[in-house]
Amino acid sequence: MIVSVRGLVKIYEDGTIALNGVDLSVERSEVCIVAGPNGAGKTTLLRIISGELKPTEGEVSVLSLNPARDRARLLRRVGVLPQEYELYEDLTVWEHLYYLAILKGLSLQEARREARRVIELLELEEVTGRLVRSLSGGLKRRVALAQALIGDNELLLLDEPMVGLDPESRRRVARILEDLRGEGVTVIVTTHYLDEIGKFADSVVVLKRGKVVRRAPVDVILGELGYNIKLEVPATRSILGRIPEGVKYAVAEGKLVFWLNEADLVRVLSALDVEAIRSARIERPTLDDAYLELISRGG
Ligand SMILES: Nc1ncnc2c1ncn2[C@@H]1O[C@H](COP(=O)(O)OP(=O)(O)OP(=O)(O)O)[C@@H](O)[C@H]1O
Ligand SMILES: [Mg+2]
Repeated sequence: MIVSVRGLVKIYEDGTIALNGVDLSVERSEVCIVAGPNGAGKTTLLRIISGELKPTEGEVSVLSLNPARDRARLLRRVGVLPQEYELYEDLTVWEHLYYLAILKGLSLQEARREARRVIELLELEEVTGRLVRSLSGGLKRRVALAQALIGDNELLLLDEPMVGLDPESRRRVARILEDLRGEGVTVIVTTHYLDEIGKFADSVVVLKRGKVVRRAPVDVILGELGYNIKLEVPATRSILGRIPEGVKYAVAEGKLVFWLNEADLVRVLSALDVEAIRSARIERPTLDDAYLELISRGG
């Protein structure tokens, strides 16, 4: 196990219970997504795993170290992208990354090589000489991500790496993470872009109000939803009145869209006027669908 968390509780000074008994184990070269609504405790969990915060209760072991005690040692082997971070605004992009590589414990020569590598990885070549303060928000995020990737990390803790990035950069980040996984790096990543990371992630942990409500491999979670059969029909009053109870549907722009499993399909087809169906599509549900379904359940 690369990360092992047992009975983790975090109560902030003002009394907020951010984590309320979390157990989590992450294996070597696993890409584990931590998902959950705003305020669920994702950032708190990552900050405890990186040693930035001390837990109120519980045991945390990361690379066989106690993060709260051995933080400096841990950070030489772990790359961290916090949700909120500070960059050295008065350094150039090059200076920033070179300096942080040195802080990470690399020799000057290695630091230079690593700075160059991450600059290329995140396509920052054109801005290496610019002051960090002069960069756009998205470019700053890429610098922060580049910083997290410096060195030979065994574990990456990435808090919302996709936020603020344009679609092309998001795709690039997804590719980088996928490559790292191929190299045996373990990744714990929080994201609301489940579909993009879900394509190659191994497992998902869903947090809700400081508790793990689900922890399963991505393919198991997707398999449970089966297929989505989407039927589109005009949303007239008479049709609305005929929809069988318990069927999932939504009204959008005068159309009714159903999400059906096989059993519901038969019920809906027999209740509706088949002639009214404008289109029918079968789709593989995405991790986003699974997440929404899970989160919308009560509790
Ligand atoms: N420094 C703090 N002091 C007090 N309460 C805090 C502090 N940081 C976070 N919290 C609270 O702890 C809970 C969990 O917050 P956390 O930032 O871990 O959630 P999150 O899942 O990362 O949310 P988001 O998706 O918005 O990033 C929230 O109720 C939040 O308001
Ligand atoms: Mg957060």
